Amino acid sequence: MISRTTVDNVFETARVEEVIGDFVQLKKSGSNFKGLSPFSDERSPSFMVSPVKQIWKDFSSGKGGNAVTFLMEHEHFTFPEAIKWLANKYGIEIIETQQTDEEKETQDQKESMFLVSKFAAEWMESQLKTEMGKAIGYSYFKERGFTDETIKYFQLGYSPDQWSAFTDAAIKAGYQLEFLDKTGLTIVKEEKQFDRFKGRVMFPIRSLSGRVLGFGGRILTNDKKAAKYLNSPPQSDIYDKSKVLYGIYEAKQSIAKEDLCYLVEGYTDVIQLHQAGVKNVVSSSGTALTKEQIRLIQRLTKNITVLYDGDAAGMRAAIRGIDLILEAGMNVRICTFPEGEDPDSFAKAHTQTEIEDFLKANSVDFISFKSNLLKNEAAGDPIKKAEMIRDIVQSIAKVPDDISREIYVRESAAILDIGEDVLFSSLAQNRNAGIKEQRKKDRRDQQSQPLKKVENAEAAVKVDRRSVLEHAIIKILLLYGDKVEDFKEEFLQESDDGELVVEPVKVTMPVYEKVYLDLQNDEIEFSNSIFKTLYPKIVDLLLMQGKVDLNQVMSTLNEHEARLVADLVMQEDKYQLHKWDGKMIFVKSKDETVSTYTMDAILNFRRLMIEEKIKALFETISKDPAVDNTDVLSTVRDYNKLSRYLGGRRLNRVV
Ligand code: CTP
Ligand code: MN
Repeated sequence: MISRTTVDNVFETARVEEVIGDFVQLKKSGSNFKGLSPFSDERSPSFMVSPVKQIWKDFSSGKGGNAVTFLMEHEHFTFPEAIKWLANKYGIEIIETQQTDEEKETQDQKESMFLVSKFAAEWMESQLKTEMGKAIGYSYFKERGFTDETIKYFQLGYSPDQWSAFTDAAIKAGYQLEFLDKTGLTIVKEEKQFDRFKGRVMFPIRSLSGRVLGFGGRILTNDKKAAKYLNSPPQSDIYDKSKVLYGIYEAKQSIAKEDLCYLVEGYTDVIQLHQAGVKNVVSSSGTALTKEQIRLIQRLTKNITVLYDGDAAGMRAAIRGIDLILEAGMNVRICTFPEGEDPDSFAKAHTQTEIEDFLKANSVDFISFKSNLLKNEAAGDPIKKAEMIRDIVQSIAKVPDDISREIYVRESAAILDIGEDVLFSSLAQNRNAGIKEQRKKDRRDQQSQPLKKVENAEAAVKVDRRSVLEHAIIKILLLYGDKVEDFKEEFLQESDDGELVVEPVKVTMPVYEKVYLDLQNDEIEFSNSIFKTLYPKIVDLLLMQGKVDLNQVMSTLNEHEARLVADLVMQEDKYQLHKWDGKMIFVKSKDETVSTYTMDAILNFRRLMIEEKIKALFETISKDPAVDNTDVLSTVRDYNKLSRYLGGRRLNRVV
């Protein structure tokens, strides 16, 4: 582990404009820098870097963050990788926290396994150039239509048809048998050693950062008895089949740039499409897609299109993958190939434009895919139709985002020609059932974990008004938290006849204090989990230092939090972009109206909270005439009064 001191050191030293300047040409523009987005193909610059705030924001892709998140987005580094890169750039010494002997041991073991795998890939690649390798391995690849460039890019290779040619070479080069065994490259049987991949053409499988983790080896004969592909053993210390995707290293830039990942079944599908110019493609290597694999893709894009062979087996595999992808909050489309074709054969026979056109024309979203699949079966059979609706609703219920779910419901109502309300209530039931199921599971898994709140039908589909307000509050704190403002407070008092009267008072205090005190008074809590942790962090900083140092806040945030903060903060600077474009739009700065803006946000938040309280109170009212509800009803009346009063106040701005 990299020590906290090193991380802090890196954050203090790294300048976001210098780091990004290594990758993007930046031009000074006012107090900011601007440039062409490295995440999309654009002609006019919408990529901004703020040296003052030490953050960046890409308005074309919506991404943003600090120097570290830039490296994570652009280079697809993990957090430690980004820190190491920066430490190296700025000459900062990396202090690692002490590892236990055991940790060191596994670390060394893994490192040795990586090294021997790297050697294997290089050695097998070189075998394509030997006389035998050329005649057998190289000519096989040529026959499949792979160019020299492609062979090199994917580091394809050949393992000679001899019992231990590779193992002997590795040992001669100084690698230990232990690690040849552990990686499965060599099969050790008593005194004898055999090459696992003897006589096969080789496909090295690389990690996101390009290290060789394992291999797939294809047989060259049409021997029906032998397995067509032989792979590295599925769960060694460095190769876990369920966590890798073939082609991810080769495809990562393009997946991020296209903001889309094609998912295919086999090694050759990846290679052939790539060679045809469709480079954003990976393969789960013939196994069912896993959560870990989806997470890997998720680091690069939110959009997956599954390409599968037109046969029944391919279809089943595609369907299984869909729900998992939806569950991860990603968008999934499905593209069917004509019977008898797979992406490999199709790509080999068509030009890039033809392939792209085909993919565009034949990719459908999961609702159309499922309903078309089931529609014919269900025609004229109401029971089948009900089943089909359930099936689709089940998939929709997996989508974590409220708004997307709502859109899917509307879409499928139109396609299936049934009422939206029917689908909504079916969805609510499904989600409730799902959540209850999850609760049971949670309880089983970890008894100490607090239970998730059961969502009701309404909440399952409603767009969250709360989140808009919560965004506004956090944004105010980040941008204007330290500003001292005049607030026109209005103290509410009850007069003798029970009406609420207002007494205006002017108070002067920093914005953060006002926000903090008001929210605390009303016991308002954030429901957004990121804000929940972010809010106290910001308030603490303000309390201790009287100002928000964005860089300091950022250094304590994870990737999601950092992106959110950059989003909120840079939105303000977006207006400047228009100026760059020569439009010269004059935008009134919010600074002039900070106090009104703040008050409005708080007021709206309070109103919402009161509505929520009233609703909750109503739910506690007993229908039983024997129960005395007077107290509850009187509280409801008070809240209603307050709500009417707040509602009647003219708001200066709708937040
Ligand atoms: N696979 C495997 N072991 C097998 C068969 C298949 O690991 N015995 C995996 C491989 O990753 C393969 C994928 O499943 O790429 C898809 O299998 P298949 O469609 O049979 O192979 P293709 O990729 O089409 O290979 P080829 O075109 O070379 O026949
Ligand atoms: Mn094939």
